[in-house]
Amino acid sequence: MKKHVVFLAAALFAVSAVAAFAATDALVGACIYKFDDTFMTGVRNAMRAEMDRQGGELEIVDSQNRQPAQNDQVDAYISKGANALIVNPVDRTAAQPLMEKAKAEGLPIVFVNREPYAEVMNAYDKIWYVGAKAEESGTQSGQIIADYFKANPKADKNGDGKIQYIMIRGEQGHQDATLRTEYSTKAMKDAGFEIVELGNDTANWDKVQATDKMKGFISAVGIDNIEAVLANNDDMALGAIEALKAEGYNMGDAAKYVPVVGVDATAPALEAMSKGEMLGTVLNDADNQGFAAVKVAVVAADDKPVTDESIGYTITDGKYIWIPYRPVTVENYKEFMK
Ligand code: BGC
Ligand code: CA
Repeated sequence: MKKHVVFLAAALFAVSAVAAFAATDALVGACIYKFDDTFMTGVRNAMRAEMDRQGGELEIVDSQNRQPAQNDQVDAYISKGANALIVNPVDRTAAQPLMEKAKAEGLPIVFVNREPYAEVMNAYDKIWYVGAKAEESGTQSGQIIADYFKANPKADKNGDGKIQYIMIRGEQGHQDATLRTEYSTKAMKDAGFEIVELGNDTANWDKVQATDKMKGFISAVGIDNIEAVLANNDDMALGAIEALKAEGYNMGDAAKYVPVVGVDATAPALEAMSKGEMLGTVLNDADNQGFAAVKVAVVAADDKPVTDESIGYTITDGKYIWIPYRPVTVENYKEFMK
């Protein structure tokens, strides 16, 4: 009997020691530029899952695409005693006042997905950025189109040896919109193709806007002249596909097909790939971006050193956590379906 009690006490001690080591009681306050964004919803869900593992408290609010509202939300987190902040800024060029609010309190602040300018990042020691190198995603999406043209010479519909394409861009000023556009066209050229841009416009990451823009391009240049569509994200790629489908394209008839690539590898995009409506995408790893943001915030909130070991991700220049992109094609898309 006595033996059992001793054993039980030892076991309880072991459990509580583990819990004391693993759990945090940090309160982390997070702001997402807008909840109605497919990719950021993935990041948000991953943040929640990670905090459930860590045992701390995570509040997440919707900044509803308004920077002044987000500034107020950060003030509210500070007054209620948050131990760290995670911010997905509405306007990445307006990150400075947010950094200053955190700095005045000595609070750690982790920016995600919308990268503040370097001077803001360099003005405080408890600031981090979790994101992905937009150049990589641009290159990979351009390569998917180039590979398709190499494998399918008939994709060059007018036989002029050039790729006539439409570019649908994300929100103006977002590093991902600028760099994906630049690097995707560069990748097609680097693969040896001459390229001709038939149309280029922003659809603000939005599916419905992309359908409208694509309908406009189709009536302006004629659907037969469009040989490829590159969109800066999957929602816009899917929007463009809606416009193609309205013309009877991308619905299974090989003679009526325009290759479309996006970025993100969202569930609806993978679904469209499985139906042969969409050529490819690039994994923008929402899970690891969400996990990493919460890990950094918790370690910093607990006043522990933020290192590769303590967060489980590689840190560059002391404050950048870059999550790699991966090309997603007909060969491997199933791996990414959840
Ligand atoms: C994603 C987009 C998303 C945007 C939000 C980008 O990295 O690819 O889908 O709308 O971030 O900031
Ligand atoms: Ca051509």
